[in-house]
Amino acid sequence: MTLSPDLTPLTPRKRAVLVGASSGIGAALARELAHRGYALALLARRAGALDALCREINAAAGDTRAVAYTHDVTDYELIPALFQKLLADLGRIDSVVYAAGVMPTVTFTEYNFDKDKAMVDSQLLGALAWLGQAAALFERMGEGQIVGIASVAGDRGRVLNPGYGAAKAGFVTYLESLRNRLTRRGVNVLTIKPGRVDTEMSRAAGMTRGLYPVGKTAAAIARAMHKRKQVVYIPGWYRFLMLGIIHTPSFIFRRLKF
Ligand SMILES: NC(=O)c1ccc[n+]([C@@H]2O[C@H](COP(=O)([O-])OP(=O)(O)OC[C@H]3O[C@@H](n4cnc5c(N)ncnc54)[C@H](OP(=O)(O)O)[C@@H]3O)[C@@H](O)[C@H]2O)c1
Repeated sequence: MTLSPDLTPLTPRKRAVLVGASSGIGAALARELAHRGYALALLARRAGALDALCREINAAAGDTRAVAYTHDVTDYELIPALFQKLLADLGRIDSVVYAAGVMPTVTFTEYNFDKDKAMVDSQLLGALAWLGQAAALFERMGEGQIVGIASVAGDRGRVLNPGYGAAKAGFVTYLESLRNRLTRRGVNVLTIKPGRVDTEMSRAAGMTRGLYPVGKTAAAIARAMHKRKQVVYIPGWYRFLMLGIIHTPSFIFRRLKF
């Protein structure tokens, strides 16, 4: 773990931790939140990508808005001490966003435990480790916001990538449990369910059509955070598409190819 320079020059109003910020949705959200005046602690494994993003954000803001912390979310035992370090560096934490995760390509006839484990480790167990810290802090504070970048893939068990869908379904249920615990304590828990977003992950999985721009995705997440929404599909019309998918009878769903 590489720790970053001190954050004392930070003075903006809101302070957020973004886990999984080196590319894609996390990086775009970092740019969006910095633009809205947030001070940010950005975490991921690729130090070079994180440092470049911090330089870009800080140059655009004209001060130190973002600081990088190199971290692998599967180093679960390091997370409690790192969370306390971030709290000390930022002075306070208002929001914690969990956007980390891998999605290796899984073929239609493949059953590969290593790939499934990598997805559950990064998409679900890392989220439990990070958001449990956030939940305990925000419960004590009586305020704060937890944001999970889940997926429409958690809404129904589909044929394409069973391990990914299972990790996302677990994440969605965990976020709902946190919401049911914490809303009464003044804490907002926001579940984001993107469809297909134009990022490294979707391109690597061979998706090329119908991709939603990552900048618009980040803007929609920031708006949902501002309005303290609870469950948001991106783009919004996916809510209706997924309503149809959720209610498709199993005897039809078993024959589908997605
Ligand atoms: N793209 C889509 O269509 C789509 C749709 C629905 C949901 N999502 C979800 O959105 C989230 C972000 O994905 P994305 O599309 O933005 O893909 P991405 O560009 O590949 O971003 C994934 C992020 O997670 C970080 N990460 C992965 N494993 C990590 C680990 N072990 N420790 C720390 N950080 C880790 C990556 O950073 P490092 O590699 O530097 O560690 C990167 O910053 C994921 O949870 C994904 O499942 C994406």
